[in-house]
Amino acid sequence: MKIAVLKERATGESRVALTPETAKKFIALGADVSVEAGAGEHASISDAAYTDAGATVGTADQVVRDAGIVLGVQAPDPALLANAKPGAKVAALFDPFKHADRVQAYASAGFEALSMEFMPRITRAQSMDVLSSQSNLSGYKAVIAAADQYGRAFPMMMTAAGTVQAARVFVMGVGVAGLQAIATAKRLGAQVSATDVRSATREQIESLGAKAIFVEEGGIEGEGTGGYASEMSDEYKAAQAKLVSEHIAKQDIVITTALIPGRPAPRLITDEQIASMKPGSVIFDIAVPQGGNVEGAVADQLVNRHGVTIMGYANTPAHLAPDASALFARNLYNFLSAFWDGEAGEPVLDEEIGDAVRLTKAGQVVNARLNEG
Ligand code: NAI
Repeated sequence: MKIAVLKERATGESRVALTPETAKKFIALGADVSVEAGAGEHASISDAAYTDAGATVGTADQVVRDAGIVLGVQAPDPALLANAKPGAKVAALFDPFKHADRVQAYASAGFEALSMEFMPRITRAQSMDVLSSQSNLSGYKAVIAAADQYGRAFPMMMTAAGTVQAARVFVMGVGVAGLQAIATAKRLGAQVSATDVRSATREQIESLGAKAIFVEEGGIEGEGTGGYASEMSDEYKAAQAKLVSEHIAKQDIVITTALIPGRPAPRLITDEQIASMKPGSVIFDIAVPQGGNVEGAVADQLVNRHGVTIMGYANTPAHLAPDASALFARNLYNFLSAFWDGEAGEPVLDEEIGDAVRLTKAGQVVNARLNEG
């Protein structure tokens, strides 16, 4: 079985879906691995490192020819894969709710599209979950970037010339990214508070030494299926807005991470609330690519509103390309190797995970989540 990895072509995508480490492991399974020249450049991986690992390096055309598996960070344009094996598996991020046209193009081309975003949240799939591994790095990077932008120090400092106050950091949305943001801000010495709609996060926030800020409304749990958040009622949203308004005016840094699968990111901070913050404060909106949690946030721009800087990256993990690539590549290896059938020389997916991640097969869109609309 030939595994192909192309250079990422999406703007700003600096990650790569294969590292020399995972190339070696795929080869040990019996696969041939072929990488487009320059694929690892932005993740600080040279072509020589891939060849040393036993992979071949070539042009896009050479790499794709007769490949049975294609790995990507972002799914490549299927037109690039015309010479791959008919029915080849393509494992990558497809952003399927947003790019129905691309899913359709994959179906028409006869490929088996495997969407890494749809990895089920079950214990045995944890090591295959790219959303978790990439969110973790995003939570870290958001705090580092916000700290860099913030004109003051994070930790309290007692000096002969007087005391510097610790920065107050508020994390909104305590999933994987939010937990890492809390931990990172704590390590930098900030005073940290956090909120979420899922009441299960209270204990996690407190176990990291941060203060939990919660809407106290009877019976509101906010937990949807698979550990994800669900869309909240108008009553809850109003109570949350009030709570946030009171708290946010005292914060120096706010990190927002709130997402609801398949829907635009919930709006958590209004312009009016931004106006209540102190000049010089910084808001980092990790959810910008999904529409943003913060009014006025624009991807890859520093927006100044009422003296507050609002920032957010179109692709946060791409700002840590070597680490993000290493984790992404391991997720892909963990996924495919778990199902590797030595005799067939390729992965044979089981029902639970296969049906969840498979978008297209044999000319059809076959995914229940997509077909349900
Ligand atoms: P996510 O990226 O979907 O959302 C980020 C956070 O925003 C979540 O905690 C969500 O509850 C919160 N949120 C949504 N709407 C909000 C609102 N209006 N106000 C405030 N907060 C809001 O979540 P993520 O990081 O993917 O994790 C969700 C849960 O799933 C976590 O408990 C995580 O540990 C679990 N998980 C389990 C996995 C597995 O078992 N394989 C893999 C990944 C995560």
